[in-house]
Amino acid sequence: MAQPLISPSILSADFARLGEEVRAIDEAGCDWVHVDVMDGHYVPNITIGPDVVKALRPHTDKVFDVHLMISPVDQYLEDFANAGADIITIHPEAGAHTHRTVQAIKALGKKAGVSLNPATPESALEYLIDDIDLVLVMSVNPGFGGQSFIASQLRKIKAIRKMIDATGRDIHLEVDGGVNPETAKDCVAAGADVLVAGSATFKGGPGQYAKNIAALKGAV
Ligand code: DX5
Ligand code: ZN
Repeated sequence: MAQPLISPSILSADFARLGEEVRAIDEAGCDWVHVDVMDGHYVPNITIGPDVVKALRPHTDKVFDVHLMISPVDQYLEDFANAGADIITIHPEAGAHTHRTVQAIKALGKKAGVSLNPATPESALEYLIDDIDLVLVMSVNPGFGGQSFIASQLRKIKAIRKMIDATGRDIHLEVDGGVNPETAKDCVAAGADVLVAGSATFKGGPGQYAKNIAALKGAV
């Protein structure tokens, strides 16, 4: 089995030293940088906005994997694109016009992702899959880092892997929430190729990041 790409969620980083933290995970061997944007409306937490993404952009050349948990979302897409997002992922549960939002992300020249909450079935992707570059399966309810992996999502990951393979296109299948070396193994076996990991990357401080990322990559 191929090793997964690792996208550490900076939600678990030290927010007072965010630039240094991004450089540290870059040097520790992360593949992407996962940025969790929360608005206190769609999810019960508030994190960061496009200005912070812009401030972090010079600190690494790695892919900025921006996960928008905000509603409404359309009016902020351009700000995140201009701030340096490479992939912009949105939630169909957060708005009425997901197809329009996906088209808007692509029109900005960015890769478009769609994320499904734990209670959202894979069928929500049926009329979107041909237009998107990434599916993000939430294996916790969005809003906070450090929650436990919801095992029922493995069945959804398997089903989405089949859907993706049937398209014949190169669409990433990413998992977010409660990913650690044990659950990582199950996710990759189910068909995921990108793993978000907040707590499991940042635990123990900067001296541990390389070891933590290697443990996630090696858990296949
Ligand atoms: C939850 C976020 C996740 C979260 C992951 O809403 O989308 O990215 O920070 O954190 P861990 O890896 O600690 O579960
Ligand atoms: Zn996320």
